[in-house]
Amino acid sequence: MSELSVDHLLGIKYLTKEDVDLIFETADHFKEVINRPIKKVPSLRDITIANLFFENSTRTRLSFELAEKRLSADVINFSAASSSVKKGETLIDTVNNILSMKVDMVVMRHPNPGAGVFLSKHVDAKIINAGDGAHEHPTQALLDSYSIRERLGEVGGKKVVIVGDILHSRVALSNIFALKLQGAEVKVCGPKTLIPKYIEKLGVQVETNLQKALQWCDIANMLRVQNERMEISYFPSTREYTQQFGVNKALLNSLDKEIVIMHPGPINRGVEITSDVADSDQAIILDQVQNGVAVRMAVIYLLASKIKR
Ligand code: NCD
Repeated sequence: MSELSVDHLLGIKYLTKEDVDLIFETADHFKEVINRPIKKVPSLRDITIANLFFENSTRTRLSFELAEKRLSADVINFSAASSSVKKGETLIDTVNNILSMKVDMVVMRHPNPGAGVFLSKHVDAKIINAGDGAHEHPTQALLDSYSIRERLGEVGGKKVVIVGDILHSRVALSNIFALKLQGAEVKVCGPKTLIPKYIEKLGVQVETNLQKALQWCDIANMLRVQNERMEISYFPSTREYTQQFGVNKALLNSLDKEIVIMHPGPINRGVEITSDVADSDQAIILDQVQNGVAVRMAVIYLLASKIKR
């Protein structure tokens, strides 16, 4: 197969296993490209991409922009904080104005779940969801699985525990879909109040004891507590959260094996993960960031190849 089954990347939910394999094979090629002295290919010289960020982002925005530039696309950036959205313009009007400047692809981060799907139905451009509220963050899950594949050979059959704020995390949901699609086993671990009631319907088990969860897994993906999405308190205090659900070196040393530690960033050092763990060889956090560029290049390239030109 040399083509994606989808016209947009709106969520992992819409992808097939073959799509994921194709994205990874394409990313392998681009990873080699970005390690060359000249890190650029001319593939998308005729394509214009708009990065629309209606919500804060550092890593994801820079990673997309770099991926686009490494493919030689023309890039325009838009951030809601400095735009007419603040003057009451609707999403469709904002985007249509941008598209009238002949944009072929839109990378969008938006606080509303489903914003990407909505847009894909109303505008004539390829849409990549760069995070829609607490719903999905598909390129993050793809780069996470790609990093597991790189470190451990394959994703299928691996045991992955996702730790922390599962309820408010788009990274958790997209990872669950991606890992299950590739045949990994998934558990979630965190305060009961931060684990959605429907989670077992996704084929995921719940383990509230962190030590047991870590002893079971090959990989632990540590999530940040999404304080910005909380209107009430979900646990007594940050100190208590860290005591129960934070990973430190002593805890890892108490296991009878060495597990791989992941984190999508931004890290809250000393809350979900201590510095000695984050900076250790067991952690592949910076590999994830590096792989993010190659994986996003692959997604952009494969979607662009479906544009009629
Ligand atoms: C995540 C996000 O924004 O969903 N970060 C990221 O994209 N690397 C996770 C987070 O904010 O905790």
